[in-house]
Amino acid sequence: MNDLEGLKEQALKELESVKSSEELQQVKAKYLGRKGILTTALKKIKEIPPEERRDYGRRVNELKSLIEEKLREKEEEVRRRELEEELSKEWVDLTIPLKNTVGSLHPLTLTLERIVDIFTGMGFKVEEGPEIELEEYNFDRLNIPEDHPARDMQDTFYVSKPGYLLRTHTSPVQIRTMLRQEPPIQIIAPGKVYRRDDDPTHSPMFHQVEGLVVNEYASFRHMKYVIEEFLREFFQTDLPVRFRTSYFPFTEPSAEVDIGCVICSQEGCRVCKETGWLEVMGCGMVHPAVLENCGIDTEIYQGFAFGMGVERLAMLLFGIDNIKLFYENDIRFIRQF
Ligand code: DAH
Repeated sequence: MNDLEGLKEQALKELESVKSSEELQQVKAKYLGRKGILTTALKKIKEIPPEERRDYGRRVNELKSLIEEKLREKEEEVRRRELEEELSKEWVDLTIPLKNTVGSLHPLTLTLERIVDIFTGMGFKVEEGPEIELEEYNFDRLNIPEDHPARDMQDTFYVSKPGYLLRTHTSPVQIRTMLRQEPPIQIIAPGKVYRRDDDPTHSPMFHQVEGLVVNEYASFRHMKYVIEEFLREFFQTDLPVRFRTSYFPFTEPSAEVDIGCVICSQEGCRVCKETGWLEVMGCGMVHPAVLENCGIDTEIYQGFAFGMGVERLAMLLFGIDNIKLFYENDIRFIRQF
């Protein structure tokens, strides 16, 4: 009986000094485990004189309950302490100001938005067309017949389905718009285009913005004004702009538009090949054959159109000399804009 008193004192003392859940498990096993002290004590009941057995059994069980209860209390305490320790180690300061975690828009997105903003400000609507396009819209209805050398000018990616290709320019959106909508038409069509081309200034996929105006009075003069306004707004300076005679099957007359080199201010540099001028887009009065291919009455309506490369404009705007930088998604490049 005195053994049990001593055991109780010893057990409570040991429990009191427990610091971790590991130690707790050890104490638990020592007293209550299969070969634990109390388990063994209960088995010893047979060795106790019969008249004392009841009392002995009751006291062992009481001691067992007491230890179980203390174990539970201790377990709770240890768990709370361990959790607190863990939390203090993993503490995150939510008040630290965030740095460099806000993303930025890609320079091509910025350039596209800039272009779209300027034209929508002038009353243009935005149209879109598919990147897998009908050969008929990409070439035929644009007055580029089969065997026409212009088909070689644009090295085309064909797809396995006959009659379809990856559009080589955004001009087929002109066709789609005129087939769907009666004049007056005043749209721009931004989007991806594809050509078999690959060097520091050409990529097999790039972006263009097409423009189309069809109404009863559209003129070359009107077109010249729209394009000059756009370019000066885009580059935010009073740039020299010149229209140079050119040829496109879908326009007549056709022109290419040059701006005074924005890199060297027309002093002559590598980018403008010492000419002081940079070509930035093609344009012209819509060829009557194209209007007729879309069921538009050329006795009443006339139009002008233009097309520009977005990468080219972005490179000039930001002073970038390799088109590939746009597609590598190197964060050190992108985050500068
Ligand atoms: N589609 C031409 C190209 O990709 C660009 C172009 C030139 C578009 C003249 C036009 C235009 O609408 O009138 O090279």
